Amino acid sequence: MLDTKVLQDYIRTIPDFPHEGIMFRDVTTLFQDPRGFRLAIDQLLAPFVGQRIDMVAGLEARGFILGGAVAHQLSKGFVPIRKEGKLPAATIEQEYALEYGRATVEIHDDALKPGDKVLLVDDLLATGGTAEAGIKLIERLGAEVVGCAFVVDLPEIGGRQKLEAMGMAVHALCHYEGA
Ligand code: PRP
Ligand code: MG
Repeated sequence: MLDTKVLQDYIRTIPDFPHEGIMFRDVTTLFQDPRGFRLAIDQLLAPFVGQRIDMVAGLEARGFILGGAVAHQLSKGFVPIRKEGKLPAATIEQEYALEYGRATVEIHDDALKPGDKVLLVDDLLATGGTAEAGIKLIERLGAEVVGCAFVVDLPEIGGRQKLEAMGMAVHALCHYEGA
């Protein structure tokens, strides 16, 4: 039978997780479906085909799953941007704001070369704080972000606007209103 599901149909919504009032967009149901996962990877990289990309960077944690597959598909390397204290070699770090408090992400200081063109990947764009921190890390190593690719965008929270105001090309596969 012909599978007519679109990408958004593979994403599960969990009400009131992790807090009351939050509609959690769960991409594990997308990842576990072979057709859904293939669709996501193909659509994530589609606008960047034909552009120079030297490296794919992924934001912990679900950005590793997506970014690894995108890198493989493009036959490029993959660089993890991790939460503080997880990377074993010398790192640079960048702080960013959370809903409550602050957090830090890190990248190995030899992961990128000056002038490298980098595609940044994550599962979801909300405030844009995580992606902004990732962009800053990439740029501090002298590399350039050619685009940011997400499966889910929550436009009302303002992340896209924030990243576009930084001059970023933002690509997202589905959008949920009402956060
Ligand atoms: C979620 C999501 C994005 C980020 C988006 O990750 O996976 O990485 O929040 O939010 P923002 O645009 O407001 O920064 P989370 O920090 O929950 O961690 P995880 O991916 O390790 O679960
Ligand atoms: Mg995350």
